[in-house]
Amino acid sequence: MDIRHRRDTLRIASLIHRFSGLALALFLPLHFYVLGLALNDAARLDAFLNWTDYPLVKFVEAILVLLLALHLFGGLRLLALEFLPWSPRQKAYAASAAALSFFVSVGFFLSAV
Ligand code: HEM
Repeated sequence: MDIRHRRDTLRIASLIHRFSGLALALFLPLHFYVLGLALNDAARLDAFLNWTDYPLVKFVEAILVLLLALHLFGGLRLLALEFLPWSPRQKAYAASAAALSFFVSVGFFLSAV
């Protein structure tokens, strides 16, 4: 069986898009729960925000920023693919989206610690 297509850059880009979209969707209820603490339980919110000062938590946040950036820039590439005239440079665009996402995520981490 020929499985070379599974290692193709654009197939990996589509898997990253799906995985990052699902991870963001799973994160969202947690995010709303923590925001809700501001209304109902300010002391627990403060304790939670203190916990987020740990460098390891900042690192996990940087991974979240990476997932959001990958989904955002990858999603913009898909929208451009859909609505703009065809360009054969899709692999270069996908690689640029990934590079930009790492840049944003590392920038977030360095400014947060
Ligand atoms: C930040 C701006 C965003 C852009 C530009 C964007 C763009 C897109 C696009 C174009 C698709 C369709 C992909 C395809 O046709 O294969 C998509 C799918 C999806 N998005 Fe987003 N999205 C964004 C934010 C989000 C957020 C915040 C979430 C979650 C809370 C999310 C969750 C998903 C999921 C679960 C899918 C389906 C993935 C799949 O079935 O492969 N997206 N997004």
